[in-house]
Amino acid sequence: MNKSTTKTLSWAAKKLRPASVNIIPKALNISADESTPNYWFYDSPFLTQFFSSFSATFPGGEQYMIDTVRMFRDQVKDNKVLYKDCGGFIGQEAHHSREHKVINDFMQSRGFPVESVENMIERILPFFKKMRKKDQMALTAAAEHYTAYFGDLVLSNPEVIENVHSTIRPLFVWHAIEEIEHKAVTYDLFDATDGEYLSRIYGFVLASALLGYLTTYGMATSMWVDRKNMTIRDTAKGLWWMFGFGKNSGYLIKSLPFLLEYFQPDFHPWDDDNSHLISKWRSELDKINVGKEKEQKAA
Ligand SMILES: [Fe+2]
Ligand SMILES: [Fe+2]
Repeated sequence: MNKSTTKTLSWAAKKLRPASVNIIPKALNISADESTPNYWFYDSPFLTQFFSSFSATFPGGEQYMIDTVRMFRDQVKDNKVLYKDCGGFIGQEAHHSREHKVINDFMQSRGFPVESVENMIERILPFFKKMRKKDQMALTAAAEHYTAYFGDLVLSNPEVIENVHSTIRPLFVWHAIEEIEHKAVTYDLFDATDGEYLSRIYGFVLASALLGYLTTYGMATSMWVDRKNMTIRDTAKGLWWMFGFGKNSGYLIKSLPFLLEYFQPDFHPWDDDNSHLISKWRSELDKINVGKEKEQKAA
């Protein structure tokens, strides 16, 4: 069996996204204001630095993913669904970058050195743009598995959303919804243009190292600047939230199986059909926005 036949069979065997899921960019226009506290996640300096550092990776990181998809999508012109989904993906990610830039600028204006992460990404991205194109595609597909992982983590745990300040909560929900909606686009594009298992795992290792490094770097610089407000108790609570056991804790550990599914040779993002989260939270998003307006009026 030659390679192209293998790829055709592999492609045909893959799952399609559920019919109820559409990849349509929808604007949000978030605004943080004077009512937004410095510690907008669980009122916790540690956890806010974690998510703020993660947010700092989005404008540069999502632009990199958009550029990668643009580089490959002409190769799947014959696959009308995937080609159209690439357009939806590009539109959604462009919106995400813009909205996260608002939060990043807000945190910077409050004295947190978010720009240091953004600048770091600007410095290292040229290196990743020099990699072989197929490795860039594998890296992008793996990075999207991480964002799908966080999307599932957020939307599967309503108490997490409740602990995001009301001015930032819609961003969490909206971004999480769209990350689930388009979670298979870059994977399918990778699969259609390369699809080798070792490339996929190489991309995952690279994405893990990159995300781990940037988030740790962002947290370390922010925590150092904010060291007067960092406490052992808050840090311990934050670590328990990530890695602890029991109710309302250990969110990163609990979601680990989702992340590790990527290692299954026949993995596909829609093996795990979590599309019910999209329909549930699309309607909740409207209520959250209404709730936000009420809170502001009452204040
Ligand atoms: Fe995104
Ligand atoms: Fe994404």
